[in-house]
Amino acid sequence: MMKMRIKELLKELDALLVAHYYQRDEVVEMADLTGDSLELSRKASASEKSKIIFCGVGFMGQSVKILAPNKRVFMPKIACCSMARMIDDSYFDTSIAQLKECGITEVFPITYINSNAEVKARVAELGGVVCTSSNASRILKYALEQKKKIFFLPDFCLGQNLARENGLKSAILGVDSVDKIKNADVICYYGFCSVHQLFSTKDIDFYRTKYPGILIAVHPECQPEVVERADFVGSTSQIIKFVQGLDCNQKVAVGTEFNLVNRLRVPVNGIQNTFVLSSTKPECPTMNETGIEDVLKCLEAIKKNKPFNEVLLNENIAKKAKQALDKMLELS
Ligand code: 13P
Ligand code: SF4
Repeated sequence: MMKMRIKELLKELDALLVAHYYQRDEVVEMADLTGDSLELSRKASASEKSKIIFCGVGFMGQSVKILAPNKRVFMPKIACCSMARMIDDSYFDTSIAQLKECGITEVFPITYINSNAEVKARVAELGGVVCTSSNASRILKYALEQKKKIFFLPDFCLGQNLARENGLKSAILGVDSVDKIKNADVICYYGFCSVHQLFSTKDIDFYRTKYPGILIAVHPECQPEVVERADFVGSTSQIIKFVQGLDCNQKVAVGTEFNLVNRLRVPVNGIQNTFVLSSTKPECPTMNETGIEDVLKCLEAIKKNKPFNEVLLNENIAKKAKQALDKMLELS
């Protein structure tokens, strides 16, 4: 009944229901579009629908609004990524001042898409660009051509993982010594994802001892020592493709959010071959807040002309942030 009403309203209101893979199953099952951050921002903004009902976290809804300012974007629940909350424009300015104190006056900034519009605008002002987990290597290559030190924010894990993969030196601002910062090619802001911090090398040892031959697939927001020992590293979409492409008898332990991993856990002849790489349930609390009843409430409110949680941005900020996002799409 509720599902039928949602379908009717989506059609009547010319709206597209978009969900990130970390959303609850009930939401993912109903969505017109699912994907990783890059796919969602690209496909939702290019859709022909005039309204986007975005089930995900704040920076994702903002990215669609920035890329498609003429669309109306609504979020059934206001949910904020805890990593994105670790930096705002004033912290960005403080970091640039700290870099100057270390004698670094020019940087090329790369912001992970998990940041708010104000931060993306600041990055654009300095000629920088946005990246996601699926295109970060390509963006880094472009950044290296600019022949400046790279300031990577807010995720120090993704920044350090990228640096290692490309044979570059990295350091963390506010954590490492001034000498180490001065010598680094990639200087990272000290932000992180609390969910992906849960995966440890002990978990990898546990599964490799228990099931010799098991593969380990992780998201690049995991800690560098975890990523270094994994067999596969990729965005949420890339992880899904990797696991679904394995022989059905191949065991794999996956280090990313629970809802996504749980959907991959399809037993073969009663045997479970896909595992969650953690003894603690790696749940993203804000991603889990939205239910289909919230989607329905959101659509009913739009129909009654009393919408709530519409993504609205300062025009100037949105225009600047768009430069950094457009550059990313051009390079992807
Ligand atoms: P993806 O871009 O890989 O979907 O990741 C988004 C995210 O927030 C992971 O924690
Ligand atoms: Fe943010 Fe981590 Fe949740 Fe992804 S899993 S949305 S990075 S808090």
